Parts: sequence; structure tokens; C-alpha cells
Amino acid sequence: MGDSAGHAQAHAEARLMAGRRLDMDDEQFADWARLLERRTGLFISPDRRSFLASGIRARMRESGCSSSREYYNRLIAGGIQAHEWSLLIDRLTVHETCFFRHRASMQLIRERLVPEVLEKQRGYLAWSVGCATGEESYSLAMQIDSCMGAVAGDCYFGVTGTDISLPSLRKARKGIYLRRRLGDIPDDLQNKYCETVSSRHFQITEQLRKRVCFAQLNLRDVETAPMARVNLIYCQNLLIYYDRGYRTEIVDKLAEFLRPGGVLILGSGELLDWRNSNMEKVRYPDTLAYRRTN
Ligand SMILES: C[S@@+](CC[C@H](N)C(=O)[O-])C[C@H]1O[C@@H](n2cnc3c(N)ncnc32)[C@H](O)[C@@H]1O
Repeated sequence: MGDSAGHAQAHAEARLMAGRRLDMDDEQFADWARLLERRTGLFISPDRRSFLASGIRARMRESGCSSSREYYNRLIAGGIQAHEWSLLIDRLTVHETCFFRHRASMQLIRERLVPEVLEKQRGYLAWSVGCATGEESYSLAMQIDSCMGAVAGDCYFGVTGTDISLPSLRKARKGIYLRRRLGDIPDDLQNKYCETVSSRHFQITEQLRKRVCFAQLNLRDVETAPMARVNLIYCQNLLIYYDRGYRTEIVDKLAEFLRPGGVLILGSGELLDWRNSNMEKVRYPDTLAYRRTN
């Protein structure tokens, strides 16, 4: 895990662990890790045992459960546990994000990818995988919309953001953020796509929000996603939480959702030496992107 996401995760884990008793033995850890991987695809490596224990303890406390065995049995009991699962997953995932987090990838989209599609087609569809609270999806929408003005006639575009975390998606749909985050957005785009709603907050304009939709999707179930084929898949700072084998499997499945010529953008360094006979590397500085060739 190389970049600021790694630090963010370390901080989140430190916060969770602060002042808490950690008592999960090897067997309990193995049971929990297996259950989480089977049910959610979430892989928790042994060195993150205390993070897992703290997250579980927090949910036990919040849900009034006194022993981890009782909590475990409650979760596997079936029936109406979906809500508790989603709250636990939320505790065990890191939602750190910001607008225009990876500038070079965003530049590639605006400078090259969108214009080359709009030369031939009247529409552009993008998918932000692991979108957290929506900043990434709205950044994509701003980049795409900025290219639309240069094209004569009507053009359509849409961005879909998916994530496992329901609380994050709720926030994403509102499109309301702290004003101090405005600085992450280039000046010309701030003026066009953001409006002040209070002394502390701004909101993404309704016009842009209409272009962006959010849905819950677990990466584990990605092949069943009810997604149309898209021009762009953007997946950054998510694969880093999974092991190498799983990353390759997921990225192979994501590639199936691209239109011919469509591009998959990952975080630099998130998947080294990936080979897929339908995909070729896109050469652009400081980015990791692959184009579907057929
Ligand atoms: C660190 S955030 C990255 C957000 C954004 N992509 C960015 O780069 O700023 C990782 C996001 O991936 C989501 N996530 C983790 N595991 C997931 C899974 N199995 N399925 C779907 N989303 C998942 C988390 O809920 C979190 O919102």
C-alpha cells in the first residue's frame, strides 16, 4: 500500500484501536477472517488482527452485544442481518477520499479519453468503483461535462458510483461537502459546478448531480452488476486492500464491462504485471490505464 490511502488507513486503524482492549485469539481471528472473506470478499490479513478486533468491538458495543462469540453467531444466524453486516463492513473499510485525488488520471480523461470518444459518438458512460462519499464520481462528471461544450449538438453522459458502504453512498447522493475541500477542485470547475449552501458547506450543482447515480455493489459480486458497458472504469485506492490474486480476478471481471476502446484506470502501482489478452496499456505519464482492444 503505497500512498496517502496507506496513511489514511493507518490513522483510521489507530483511531479505532485507541484505548480499547484487544483480545481475539488465533482461532477467533481465523473464524472472523474466513467469514468476512466468504460473505463480503473483504480480506483481512493477520497483521490487521487488532484492527479487526477493534472494529468488531465497536459494533458489539453499538449493538448491545456482550461477547464476540454471541455477535458472531448473531451475524451467521441468517435472516435480517443485512443491516448489521453493512454497519460492520463500514467499520472495517477505509473511506478516505477527496476531489481530484489523482490529478494525472483526471487529466488523461479530460485531455484525451473523453474527446476521442466524442469525436465518434454522442455519449460517454463512466463507472467509479469504490466511490466512497462521491468526490471521485463528481470529479469524473466535472471532467466529462467540461468536454461536452466543445462538441456540437446534443451529447449524453452519465457516471455511476458504486461502493459497499451504505452510509458513504447516502452522503454521496447529497453531494454536500465541507467548504475547506473546495480547494481540491480546480478554480474554473468550482465556479461552474459548486454552490455555497451554508457557511461551512457547498453542494454540487443539481445539474451535475443529475448526471451521477450511486448504487451499492460489493466487489465480490462484480460480475452480476447490473451495469451497461461503459467507456471508462475508474478504480483507485480499493484494490490495495486485497491480495494480489484477488486483485487480478476483480480487474479481469471489470474489463468485461468496457466497450471496445473503453479504458480502465487504476491507481499507479496497484496492479503490477497484469496481463489480459483483450487489454493494452495506455501510455500517459504517472498513470496506470488499460484500453480494451476488441
Ligand atoms: C479508500 S476508499 C477510496 C475512494 C476513492 N476510490 C478514492 O480513490 O478516493 C475505498 C472505498 O472502497 C470501498 N470498498 C472496500 N471494499 C469494498 C468491496 N468489497 N466492495 C465495494 N466497495 C468496497 C470502501 O467502502 C471505500 O469507500
